Amino acid sequence: MTQTRFLLGGDLPVNRIGYGAMRLAANGFTGPARDPAVGIAVLRRALELGVDHIDTAAFYASDDGSVTANGLIREALHPYRDDLVIATKVGPVRQPGGGVHMSTDPAELRPQVEANLTELGVDRLDVVYLRVGGGVAPLASESIGARFEALAQLQSEGLIRHLALSNVARGHLAEAAAIAPVVAVQNAFSVGSRDELAVLEACESAGIAYIPFFPLGGGAPDTNANRIEAVARRHEATVPQIALASLLASSPVALAIPGTGSLAHLEENMAAADIVLTAEDHADLG
Ligand SMILES: NC(=O)c1ccc[n+]([C@@H]2O[C@H](COP(=O)([O-])OP(=O)(O)OC[C@H]3O[C@@H](n4cnc5c(N)ncnc54)[C@H](OP(=O)(O)O)[C@@H]3O)[C@@H](O)[C@H]2O)c1
Repeated sequence: MTQTRFLLGGDLPVNRIGYGAMRLAANGFTGPARDPAVGIAVLRRALELGVDHIDTAAFYASDDGSVTANGLIREALHPYRDDLVIATKVGPVRQPGGGVHMSTDPAELRPQVEANLTELGVDRLDVVYLRVGGGVAPLASESIGARFEALAQLQSEGLIRHLALSNVARGHLAEAAAIAPVVAVQNAFSVGSRDELAVLEACESAGIAYIPFFPLGGGAPDTNANRIEAVARRHEATVPQIALASLLASSPVALAIPGTGSLAHLEENMAAADIVLTAEDHADLG
């Protein structure tokens, strides 16, 4: 399996296909608990297959809170390999009994960072995203400066190595970068949804990673599926594999973090690293 690599934050080399941990505890942001033994097997197999970048959050948990992504990561992989990068997010906080509180008060971020440190069993978090807004589309008018300053303070205290942003508009990137370096942006994206081009271009200009969530459309049918299927047939590949190959081909700063709780899907997704799309494929994908 051939993986091209990206230098995250200038000092963390990662393979361009990583792993999104949101699907470990439940098959979605909410849902009944998935089998934790399978989640642990998926995480261990992911590393065998070349994953060295895991995307997680303290708020990735089953409805009843009995299974959490951070808990499974620690149980499966701690003590961590030196080359493993674990990125987490702060902002949303899962409430007892369901629902999510979106922190807009900067003072709420320190306990969230501390919770991630404890749950993952580390002294310093590799990458922390400030997750902004309640939905999956950025709210350009929302100021993030005070919250990003709070995270920059925690970074200066040595609790965080790199800072990043999630669900942001292009203006947020400039607002944050004036406070502290931003190493990645994580916004909604899929082969069928190219609304994020302005943010992607900003990431390219700054040389920072663009690591979209929903790289497989969040499991929803892709509006571009017919075109992807034609390309998939040519490569004897699957639609998700072509979606991932297309994402990686879209920009040298694009990284993929497909989410799965399935060993078979994990194998399939990691094999997408071997697919080289042709000019004909790109033309067909539109
Ligand atoms: N920053 C944010 O606001 C935000 C929001 C959402 C997600 N995220 C992060 O981004 C990561 C990726 O997003 P995502 O997991 O929501 O969506 P995704 O990767 O686009 O899609 C995951 C869905 O596709 C299914 N799937 C995965 N591989 C497949 C395959 N080869 N064939 C068929 N189905 C497949 C999964 O089901 P199975 O589990 O059954 O394979 C799951 O239902 C998350 O895991 C999380 O780390 C961040």
